[in-house]
Amino acid sequence: MHHFAYRDGALFAEDVDLRRIAAEVGTPVYVYSSATIERHYRLFAQAMAGIDPARPAPHVFYAMKANGNLGVLKTLAALGAGCDTVSEGEVRKALAAGFAPDKIVFSGVGKSESELAFAVEAGIYQINIETEGELDLLSKVAARLGKRQEAVFRVNPDIGAGGHAKITTGSAANKFGVSFEEASRLYARAANLPGVRMMGLAVHIGSQIQDIAAFEAAYAKMAGLVGSLRDEGHRVDRLDLGGGLGIPYEMAKAVDHGPELIEDYAAMVARVTKGLDVELGFEPGRLIVGNAGILMTRVVHLNPRPSKQFLIVDAAMNDLVRPAMYEAYHEIWPVAEPAAEARSIAYDVVGPICESGDTFTTGRVLPELRPDDLVAFMTAGAYGASMSSTYNQRLLVAEVLVKGAQYAVTRPRQSYEELIGTDRAPPWLA
Ligand code: LLP
Repeated sequence: MHHFAYRDGALFAEDVDLRRIAAEVGTPVYVYSSATIERHYRLFAQAMAGIDPARPAPHVFYAMKANGNLGVLKTLAALGAGCDTVSEGEVRKALAAGFAPDKIVFSGVGKSESELAFAVEAGIYQINIETEGELDLLSKVAARLGKRQEAVFRVNPDIGAGGHAKITTGSAANKFGVSFEEASRLYARAANLPGVRMMGLAVHIGSQIQDIAAFEAAYAKMAGLVGSLRDEGHRVDRLDLGGGLGIPYEMAKAVDHGPELIEDYAAMVARVTKGLDVELGFEPGRLIVGNAGILMTRVVHLNPRPSKQFLIVDAAMNDLVRPAMYEAYHEIWPVAEPAAEARSIAYDVVGPICESGDTFTTGRVLPELRPDDLVAFMTAGAYGASMSSTYNQRLLVAEVLVKGAQYAVTRPRQSYEELIGTDRAPPWLA
């Protein structure tokens, strides 16, 4: 469920009229709903806490890559969430947003020496090691700093899943994690290294997964590995089950979708980890913020052709790359509520960028729209602004967080000074 709905003829984010945000902040603009973020975090955290009520609640590390807006991060930190990070920038941002170091996990296939040093010095909770080289480097870096860093191995279970090939991570063909077969040898090697303390295992098989059976197969394999590592005498206290739980992008069809899939997932985790005696961790991203955000854009021009009707909007693939990159589907809702008898037209909705890939959708039947009308790309809270760029020298979009009847600009639109002024001419051309 989300908190974007029509009221008195216009689309609202909670109690704020989106037309007001468009007038005051401009377009394109991302708008996030605090109530939706809070609802999804609570639903997820409560369901995970119910997996084994006798144990301390599992850790929920929000995957910042989905949406790293400071307002979103602070909202989640205030709810008690932890944070899953994948770069020094994300670790720094998590700290700046108020996540305690002992609630931060650092994953990623290519952590550099300086990134590892920063994370170790900051005293973060856990580093998810993905290669043998990283194991050695981490131990060296931590030992030099006089520390022993708690870590887990991210294991590739050779069971991948996901909404698109580009977001499947768990198959052996993907770059992620140490191989399942190598886990035992590496765990044994790690025991002799001075700078790491191996605490357990992590797995993340992909993103936008709605098939519980795929998770179950991977998690069952991991549970087996926990057992065999223990049989070999290793300490395995933690099992980080990653993120990846999908959300419905076709919201009109799903009135209140969220809870069922989360509950099925929790029941499956309970089944697979029963009696395993591990501290569980999760890294949800999309599920928490996906339908808590929209990208509001304005129609700039129409380009009627004999065979097609192009609707040109002021947002482009640099602002929301998911359709261009993953053929992703986002519903498009006019901000002014369409009259029931409104004429419908099949539009190709495109942005101003100079390549044909800058197409949000083709042949989408929408109520008739005119220049200056506002529309919202729905379910754009995850991997929207966080993947944006300045391609075509377009300004990074503004981001707004709504809470009840209030809203705040939590990232102002980039200025042309910021866009251009950070480049430097080489001395021979200055
Ligand atoms: N943990 C790890 C190690 C990850 O790599 C990811 C996402 C997550 C957690 C969070 O996954 P989520 O719960 O959000 O599915 N840009 C793509 C999605 C990329 C996902 C990358 N990894 C998209 O727009 O669909």
